[in-house]
Amino acid sequence: MADIVHYDSLGSTNEKAKELARLGRPAGTVVWADHQDAGRGRGHNQWHSPPGGLYLSLLLRPKEGRPATDLSLLAGVAVVQAVRELLPKSVEVSVKWPNDCLLNWKKVAGILVEHVSEVDMAVVGIGLNVNLPAEELTVFEDRPFGATSFQVECGGAFSLQDSLNMVVTKTLLLRALYERDGMDSIRYLWEKNCRFVGKKVEVSETGRADVGEQTRGTFLGLDDSGALLLGNEKGDKRAFFSGVITCCWR
Ligand code: BTN
Repeated sequence: MADIVHYDSLGSTNEKAKELARLGRPAGTVVWADHQDAGRGRGHNQWHSPPGGLYLSLLLRPKEGRPATDLSLLAGVAVVQAVRELLPKSVEVSVKWPNDCLLNWKKVAGILVEHVSEVDMAVVGIGLNVNLPAEELTVFEDRPFGATSFQVECGGAFSLQDSLNMVVTKTLLLRALYERDGMDSIRYLWEKNCRFVGKKVEVSETGRADVGEQTRGTFLGLDDSGALLLGNEKGDKRAFFSGVITCCWR
């Protein structure tokens, strides 16, 4: 099992993990905090991190000759697999490009991968809304797909330690699969765990539904580099290397 470093409170587990990576801590180290004062999300967003959520950063070695961004798709699949193990079968769980995890079509987890180039180590930061009541999720209201938590969808209280163990175990297992079988195996699992493939979606390169151009099309899956492939009625394909899915017709 991984080496877990636990804190009551941190600014950001990703910042602490980067510090530890620079000090020579090995791959497999996990930084876990009960809450964060300066939790960070993708695209300069903040990540609201009150007690009750799971906030962790895992050090992973990028695969030789491959970009650290592979690990972002890998972590998305790992979180989806972990959530499926932790919750009843009746809930719908899906990865959403590039690496969000949705529970009943609302965002329950976000992932921020950063590369510490000096030591060639990736920091995989994961925020999972476990025991957060609805009031704590209103800050995410304006984001595409909104937000939810284990508690809101399933009721009761969940063990953060069990949730952490499951997320870390799934991530390390997939990291081993990726080492052995390459990115094709992760891409296959990603598409298999994505409820959006084959559906009509809207993609925003700015990451917002109210700013910039929204492009509609059918989500065809991922290309070799992990880009989102969107098809139109004429049979043309377009690859998106960044952005978010802002809408999906189910
Ligand atoms: C997103 O915008 O969806 C990514 C959110 C990532 C949040 C996690 S919480 C643990 C780690 N520490 C951070 O500051 N951010 C990540």
